[in-house]
Amino acid sequence: MLFILTQRWFGQIPLEKRLRKHFKTILVVLILLVAIASLFIHPFGNVKTVSRSSNRQLLSGTQIDPAVFNIMQRSCQNCHSEETAWPWYSYIAPVSWLVEQDVRDGRSHFNMSRWSEYNRDDRIQILSGIGTRVRNKSMPLPKYLLLHRDAKLNDAEIDLVYQWTRAERKRLKSGAGSTQQSAPRQVKTSLATN
Ligand code: HEC
Repeated sequence: MLFILTQRWFGQIPLEKRLRKHFKTILVVLILLVAIASLFIHPFGNVKTVSRSSNRQLLSGTQIDPAVFNIMQRSCQNCHSEETAWPWYSYIAPVSWLVEQDVRDGRSHFNMSRWSEYNRDDRIQILSGIGTRVRNKSMPLPKYLLLHRDAKLNDAEIDLVYQWTRAERKRLKSGAGSTQQSAPRQVKTSLATN
């Protein structure tokens, strides 16, 4: 009996036909695997849950013009703050892992949500990094721009950001802003864009 069954399965029905016959089952299994991987496998940590629990002011303590602040939000916030807006594909493995890795790495280098936790030297160093990276167009990450065209900066915007980093560094070096939250010009514009 078993012999006859296996004969029918593997002997007579050609592979293509068998695949077609079981297409639905294969599809369901694949979808389940992807779903399980997406939900439970996070090789770069629970990057997404952090963003839900934090509600901090971005770049708190800096003196920043609303125009520049908006650029930073538009272009950098998704990777460099805990206010990340997660697109649908960022929930689907294995793409989700690539996105989570970028966000984790981005935040670990420069996190706008935790600006007030950096000391003066860190801030100065990150500011000069921002100036360099924006001017040589290595930030925002070029691959990110493929899917987020609105994050692209034009020359005028690059210059605005650069001038801000210079002014802010100068301010910090002259001693201002060294005590946390000294006289921050808190920018309240468009904090609720996502
Ligand atoms: C797609 C995610 C992404 C976006 C968007 C993005 N970054 Fe980054 N950023 C990263 C990653 C990942 C790193 C760490 C790897 C590296 O240094 O290249 C990084 C590193 C940096 C660093 C280096 C910090 C250090 O330690 O010196 C600076 C500065 C920086 N980014 C600034 C910016 C600015 C400014 C913007 C917006 C104009 C921006 N980034 C947009 C992902 C991103």
